This record gives sequence, C-alpha cells and structure tokens, in this order.
Amino acid sequence: MALREILKFGDDALRKKCRPITKFDDRLGELLDDLEETLISSDGVGLAAPQVGILRRVAVVNVRDNHGNIELINPEIVEQSGSQMGKEGCLSAPNEWAEVERPNKVTVRAFDRHGNEFTITGEELLARAFCHEIDHLDGVLFIDHVEKTIPPRGDKL
Ligand code: CO
Repeated sequence: MALREILKFGDDALRKKCRPITKFDDRLGELLDDLEETLISSDGVGLAAPQVGILRRVAVVNVRDNHGNIELINPEIVEQSGSQMGKEGCLSAPNEWAEVERPNKVTVRAFDRHGNEFTITGEELLARAFCHEIDHLDGVLFIDHVEKTIPPRGDKL
C-alpha cells in the first residue's frame, strides 16, 4: 500500500474520459488499496483513479458510515430520483467549494475488485459522492455544474 499524489485542477488527466477495467487482477487490487489509503489520509469522502493519474474507471467512496470503503469499478448510475443542494468540494481543488445540485437518491451498478457485479443505493451525501466520483471518470469536475465557486467549507469528495 502506498499514498499516491493527488493531481490538482488544471492537470490534463482530470479532463480525460477514462477507460473501463477489463482485467480484475492484483494490479487493480493494489490501485484500490492505494486509493483507499490516500482517501482516508486526505480526509476526503471519495477519490477517483484519474485524480492519481490512472485513466481507468475506478473510484472509492467512503462517507464514514457503515459501508466503509465502497469500491466502484466501471460504475454506472442506473437510477436516480429527487434533488438536493449542498456544498461540494474536491480533493483535487483544496480551496474551492460550490453549491451543487445533485439527485437525492442514486442507484449505481458496478463491479467489485473480484469482478462481481453489484448494485448499491445511496441517499444524500452518499448519492452526492457517487455522482461526483462517476463524473471524474468522464473528465467532469464539480465546478462544471456551477457558475462560480464559493468560500464556505463543505465535504471533500
Ligand atoms: Co473530486
């Protein structure tokens, strides 16, 4: 396990569309372990592979609830409902925050590190984190959803 450097806004890697994982091997496991260690040590609630320069459809979410680390490989939003407004930030932009509208409830279909498909439903912060991280896999950043960022602190996704 190792901490990886988190790329900051302005880095080209954050604007790329990531490619799906096709091999569920030890290398993927190592990437997930590193993402989780980096996420926890950064005090964030989500981290996507492109944020550490790996252009693959992999992300980890941990909103410090009973789910612990949620490993998302090739995730897709299959259902969403409602809406929520809330402060959002990003580990790739330590000083930027914005009010971002997201669905209030989101169901994601993804694979685990062993290649098993699963679905998971999240509400409120968890739903927000799923949307934010899946956006990263398509080169979309939270600032793309707002006209301007604001100073108050919120959750680091
Ligand atoms: Co982010």
